[in-house]
Amino acid sequence: MVKATKISEVRDQVRQWKKEGLTVGLVPTMGFLHEGHMSLVDKAVSMCDRVVASDFVNPTQFGPNEDLETYPRDFERDCRLLEEHGCHMVFHPEVSEMYFDDAATYVEILSDMPKQLCGKTRPIHFRGVCTVVSKLFNIVTPDKAFFGQKDAQQLAIIRRMVRDLSFGIEIVGCPIVREADGLARSSRNTYLNNEERQAALILSKAVFAGQKMAEEGEKDANKIVAAMTEMIESEPLAKIDYVSAVDGVSMMPVDKIEGSVLVAMAVYIGKTRLIDNFIVEG
Ligand code: PAF
Repeated sequence: MVKATKISEVRDQVRQWKKEGLTVGLVPTMGFLHEGHMSLVDKAVSMCDRVVASDFVNPTQFGPNEDLETYPRDFERDCRLLEEHGCHMVFHPEVSEMYFDDAATYVEILSDMPKQLCGKTRPIHFRGVCTVVSKLFNIVTPDKAFFGQKDAQQLAIIRRMVRDLSFGIEIVGCPIVREADGLARSSRNTYLNNEERQAALILSKAVFAGQKMAEEGEKDANKIVAAMTEMIESEPLAKIDYVSAVDGVSMMPVDKIEGSVLVAMAVYIGKTRLIDNFIVEG
């Protein structure tokens, strides 16, 4: 596996691959890889001739009081995992390689889409995500890019950005990967102590309960959200940021389960903010 830290190294290698007629897949990550990331890499390896993973903790998507400094990092371990899963190149740039000191250009969706759900408490988050993902698209020029359904709003926003800016890249969404007991895999799970790890199960329990209600025919989105909210509130260590039902494409709130609906949540367990969701087709 090639380890690149410079944009020019990535460009040279990808140019070579494309000259050979090979297709290229991109898996953007912030590192500290877990099985969720590896499922994206596996999917990319199965669909593309060459796979590039980026491993970059992107400062522009963190708010001033968020966990940029403490975000977990282990590049050596990441490389071992990527290599084991057949990744061909990892791009691990310094912040200074990705952002000029006086960088003043951002990519931002100006509809209400990024203001919903996570955007309510993380107002600059999706601008940072769209900016870094656009840069990675310009650097790697992949045919396909792979994103997890756990970050459902991010996935919807990237699809919209790719459409609006004619990137010509196929976005492949991949299912949520869970621990054996249901907890959705996340690099931030590492922040949880034993008691919090146990309490965090309330997210997936609420997801499964909401999913069951929807599968059994409940069409009132508010009733599903209310039942999930009550369940989460019964866990003393949990503090809800949001539990919401929104249209699966526009991310705008809905009252009815009609078409594709995303039921998503963000919940603090102690100081750790975790997300989880499910999609229901009404
Ligand atoms: O989902 C993530 O890990 C990040 O938001 C991404 C897409 C790698 C951009 O920094």
